Amino acid sequence: METNHETAQKSGFGSKLGFILAAAGSAVGLGNIWRFPYLAAKYGGGIFLLIYLILAVTFGFSLMITEIAIGRKTGKSVIGAYADISKKFSPLCWLAAFVPVIITPYYCVIGGWVLKYLLTFVTGQGSTAGGDGAFFSSFIGRAGQPTVCFLIFLLVTALVVMLGVQKGIERISKFMMPVLVLLTIGIAVYTLTLDGAAAGVKYYLLPNLEGFTAEKLLKTVAAAMGQLFYSMSLAMGIMVTYGSYMRKEDSLEQSVRQIEIFDTGIAILAGLIIVPAVFVFSGGDTNALNAGPSLMFITLPNVFGSMTGGQVVGAVFFVLVALAAMTSSISLMETVVSIIMEKFGLKRIPACIITVLCCLLLGMLSVLGYSTWSNVRLIGMQFLDFFDFISNNIMMPVVALLTCILIGWVVKPEYVEDEVLVSQKSFRARMLLSVMLRYVCPVCMIIILLTPFVTEI
Ligand code: PHE
Repeated sequence: METNHETAQKSGFGSKLGFILAAAGSAVGLGNIWRFPYLAAKYGGGIFLLIYLILAVTFGFSLMITEIAIGRKTGKSVIGAYADISKKFSPLCWLAAFVPVIITPYYCVIGGWVLKYLLTFVTGQGSTAGGDGAFFSSFIGRAGQPTVCFLIFLLVTALVVMLGVQKGIERISKFMMPVLVLLTIGIAVYTLTLDGAAAGVKYYLLPNLEGFTAEKLLKTVAAAMGQLFYSMSLAMGIMVTYGSYMRKEDSLEQSVRQIEIFDTGIAILAGLIIVPAVFVFSGGDTNALNAGPSLMFITLPNVFGSMTGGQVVGAVFFVLVALAAMTSSISLMETVVSIIMEKFGLKRIPACIITVLCCLLLGMLSVLGYSTWSNVRLIGMQFLDFFDFISNNIMMPVVALLTCILIGWVVKPEYVEDEVLVSQKSFRARMLLSVMLRYVCPVCMIIILLTPFVTEI
């Protein structure tokens, strides 16, 4: 049902479906298509999937419903929202607001890389894109092309955000997300019919208990937790912002469940594309899956190169990745724009222009970090890796931890419950939410924060 809806603060989503697809669009991104499959393959296949699913319906559910409830209750962006709840926690606002400011630029740089690969496959030159990785390193090693690709990705994202919540974000999500689902199912069906794919499916879906020690279990849980957190776009103000655009009459609990199903479903399907395809290509060598970032930009182009119809499959695959990355970058930019609009009382278009300029500045650091300034290191990392590290490994877990303390202990979980009950008669997951917010999630966050240091030692 489509109705025009205005919250007290600003115009919001016009329908429940629009909200779910936009939030799912944010959640489904590079994390689902590239990171999830290789983590699952690395951490014992079926075991990782099982742990991930359990965490999604408990830990992920609680954090997501909390953020959306905060947004809907206050009707504000992340800055205003946390300050409304508690003055003492106002530094948290700034920390949370800073996360999308750091992520948006480098996310658009990677989005630009995806556009380059899409273009390469669409123009029938996909066979040049794999090899020993020379294509990828020579592409990112020059400043010109990555800059152009970054600019295109950034400007398309900005155009959608400029059109506003209903006319831009909602409309584009309603179109892009169904296309994304169809493409994912289509390629998965195709790769599953390849000779030898069954061994890959087995490896991916069946639990591999060989050598599965307590230590490995712990590492698997930590990896699943980190992935979940990133995959659901938590702790960066996105869900607070989108929550502030949500209609009061739509059920929060049901919406969050549906977003989760969407996000997890696409991740599992992406694994069904990548794991069997890489298996067929590498003759069952699982090391090919552990390639990190090069899995997407070097291994997969090789896989497509060796497959019958690989040019078309490769082109469709990169369309899929580009759509997933675009809906995520839209949500990131919208979060920054909503903060600027609210904080400085600006209209949407000027706020978008300021955001784009800011992204240009920071994004160029990431682009040039691989070319002109490739000698520059920040705590031993290139710019892009540095931005990724401080946002994902430090700032986001801290924001989530403080959010749990604020809601779990300062204002108490009833804060979320009250908002949930605005649009539904009972709240089945009430106890779960309380236990998660007060005890489990804070401990999980501390584990995520400490993991890099412990593994270092
Ligand atoms: N949730 C997205 C994914 O799975 C990642 C993302 C991170 C999106 C930050 C927006 C912001 O890839």
